[in-house]
Amino acid sequence: MGLVGSGIMGSGIAETAIESGYKVTLLSRTPESAQLIVASIKDSFERKIGKHKKTSTQADEELGRLSVTNEISDLADCDLVIETVVEDLDVKLRMMRSLDAVCKPSAIIATNTSTFPVIELAAATSRPDKVCGIHFFNPAPVMKLVEIVKTLVVSEDTIQAANSFALSCNKEPVIVKDQAGFIVNCLLFPYLNNAVKLLEQGVASMEDIDTAMKGGCGFPMGPFALLDLVGLDTAVSILNSLYDEFKDPNFSPAPLLKRMVTAKLCGRKTRAGFYKY
Ligand code: CAA
Repeated sequence: MGLVGSGIMGSGIAETAIESGYKVTLLSRTPESAQLIVASIKDSFERKIGKHKKTSTQADEELGRLSVTNEISDLADCDLVIETVVEDLDVKLRMMRSLDAVCKPSAIIATNTSTFPVIELAAATSRPDKVCGIHFFNPAPVMKLVEIVKTLVVSEDTIQAANSFALSCNKEPVIVKDQAGFIVNCLLFPYLNNAVKLLEQGVASMEDIDTAMKGGCGFPMGPFALLDLVGLDTAVSILNSLYDEFKDPNFSPAPLLKRMVTAKLCGRKTRAGFYKY
């Protein structure tokens, strides 16, 4: 399989796929970003070896299945390619056109988009019946869910293949209609956005809001810790897409969230967001 993009999702899906026996070619823009991904997967494997979750022989075998490249033509023979590039529609459309031009005609081209209409990305290719959403969650090696997004024109074979792929990665896939936010983000992001609005209103401190949602709802992380994990820039982009689709004020990004993105306080990826890292 091929993976495109060297962010958190590209890295997490690559880790999951090589652990599941797939041979993965990861396309990234620069050799430096590719090396960072390899280093982060090696770190993760070291931790798993330390916890006796795998042996170093297994880790070496799995890493042997990963190759990184800066040449899109290296994806020509892949049966499945998943793009995980930045959540920007123009960038994703350009990537879909380029993938369509190089991938063999039988290849499935999937997108890990969180909110863009998958049909728009499918329509940019000459094979809309072979394009679907395969939406992993962060951190991909840990989160069980994968949303398989079904457009109006995708073939049943493509959906079944995507579903089988997710199952073979030991995930729990669900099939969902091509609508902004799919299931999880449509429910999760109004909650995260409203947590920021509560903070703006001075109802409680962010630490207390996080404590409340962990202790009161059994969530593994409070909303501010989760926003930092997702990335505030990604969160604003998801909220904007949801707002564009539904025009529901609940989806309109809280002013504080937008200001923090402008200030480059994007969460873990910039080492500071609501918390410092
Ligand atoms: N890569 C690989 N493994 C990881 C990992 C990563 N990035 N982060 C954590 N893990 C593993 C740890 O190694 C550990 O494994 P073991 O149990 O086998 O030892 C396990 O996950 C638990 O990790 P920790 O003990 O370090 O920490 P934790 O118990 O606090 O769990 C967490 C961390 C898994 C992130 C947990 O807090 C959690 O589930 N948080 C919620 C995450 C969430 O809601 N994600 C969805 C975001 S929304 C999204 O992704 C959609 C979108 O489109 C934006």
